[in-house]
Amino acid sequence: MEGKELLRMVPLFSDLNEEELGLLAQASSSAHFCKDQVILMEEEEGSTLFVIERGKVKVSVQDRQGREFVLAVLGQGDFFGEMSLLDGKPRSATVVALEDTTALTLRRGDFLSLIHRNPWVAVRLLEEMAWRIRVADSKMKSLALLDVTGRIVYSLLQMAEDGVRTPDGVLLPSRVTRQLLADMSGTSRETVSRTLGRLRDEGYICISGRRIVILKEKQLWEDFLLF
Ligand code: CMP
Repeated sequence: MEGKELLRMVPLFSDLNEEELGLLAQASSSAHFCKDQVILMEEEEGSTLFVIERGKVKVSVQDRQGREFVLAVLGQGDFFGEMSLLDGKPRSATVVALEDTTALTLRRGDFLSLIHRNPWVAVRLLEEMAWRIRVADSKMKSLALLDVTGRIVYSLLQMAEDGVRTPDGVLLPSRVTRQLLADMSGTSRETVSRTLGRLRDEGYICISGRRIVILKEKQLWEDFLLF
């Protein structure tokens, strides 16, 4: 998709007219990242905004032992890098490509002058940031109030939002590895494997190699997540 066409589909830029979209396309560049490539590092300086054209990225934080916690998985039309752009502080998280990813990049000065000319872009930005706080609050709630099985179920159901609906259930995307589920749920890969085995034995999910199908989405909510 051409730069301007992509920008038109990004919710952040949905209020821009043709002329503004053209100016924005001119001011932005395109960058390609291979699967597993680090795009941004937590604590690094930076002020570029990224808008995902194609692919998926993982946003995560790490402790000193290198243990990782996944904050979000972002895909086409989503943006990242806005926090350092806005407050001038170091990057709040590390962003890694989960698959081959192409993103448009915008420099701070160009983004701020865009907002200056089109204040609705700032409103859209606030809307998305409000949504991210809601998701983060809900994640905090799950971490504080759920046991490890509940947290893993919560992560499975989050990933199901991106899955393919089949007559049997929801097929999770292939990038949903046991390690990713562990890093999303604050636990180890071994615990995830054990828990998935239990959920399979109890008929909630079906596992075939690396493929996971959620068979009883509603029951998972009811049995593990009503808190
Ligand atoms: P920035 O701090 O510049 O660099 C890391 C980026 O990760 C950050 O901007 C946001 O775009 C993104 N990010 C940080 N925390 C979250 C979160 N909880 N949900 C989604 N994206 C996030």
